[in-house]
Amino acid sequence: MKFFIDTANIEQIKEAQALGVLDGVTTNPSLMAKEGIKGEENIFNHYKTICEIVDGDVSAEVISTDFEGMIREGEILAALHPQITVKVPMIKEGIKAIKYFSAKNIRTNCTLVFSPGQALLAAKAGATYVSPFIGRLDDIASDGVDLVYKIVQMYRFYGYETQVLAASIRHTQHIIQCVEVGADVITSPLSAIEGLLKHPLTDSGLKTFLSDYEKSQE
Ligand code: G3P
Repeated sequence: MKFFIDTANIEQIKEAQALGVLDGVTTNPSLMAKEGIKGEENIFNHYKTICEIVDGDVSAEVISTDFEGMIREGEILAALHPQITVKVPMIKEGIKAIKYFSAKNIRTNCTLVFSPGQALLAAKAGATYVSPFIGRLDDIASDGVDLVYKIVQMYRFYGYETQVLAASIRHTQHIIQCVEVGADVITSPLSAIEGLLKHPLTDSGLKTFLSDYEKSQE
């Protein structure tokens, strides 16, 4: 199970990297806007900065929605740094673009996936990653983790190499549920990853160990 952090915030990326368990980063235009990154040059530099902090894949999303625009943008993004993965939306033109990038050995992340049928198309086009959005499905009273389960089963049955990257993770329990259904990758906020550290019995146990040590030294 790979851990990606879903943010464009440099401090949080550094903190996750320092924890020693980070395998990559995903961003999207909303996350970039949240950090106040404006203008093509600044956006490109931001991606390069992220790549220099982490060791793994860094998803950078195209803004175009037509095939030619996606190709143009994706090739520029991929040339920025060897760790860049081109994030492409799950639309008709996006599938064509993923197929094109796949033939050129440019890694892709097919984003905004909400159904097994969409995931099937992404795999057939040769996407490196497919991103089912679990939190957004939960938001509309659907079952996001069940979608991850269905995609994992389908890919295993047919032997597709596309990795299932569970996205739109909102809390720690989502990560555990994704482990249970066999997601290859989770991308989540730092808070959800840090939630994995917490257990009251760890805290109380450590407190006792330390106080017993202190008493034994008196
Ligand atoms: O990776 C996609 C993710 O950023 C979407 O998350 O919380 O906006 O649904 P959210």
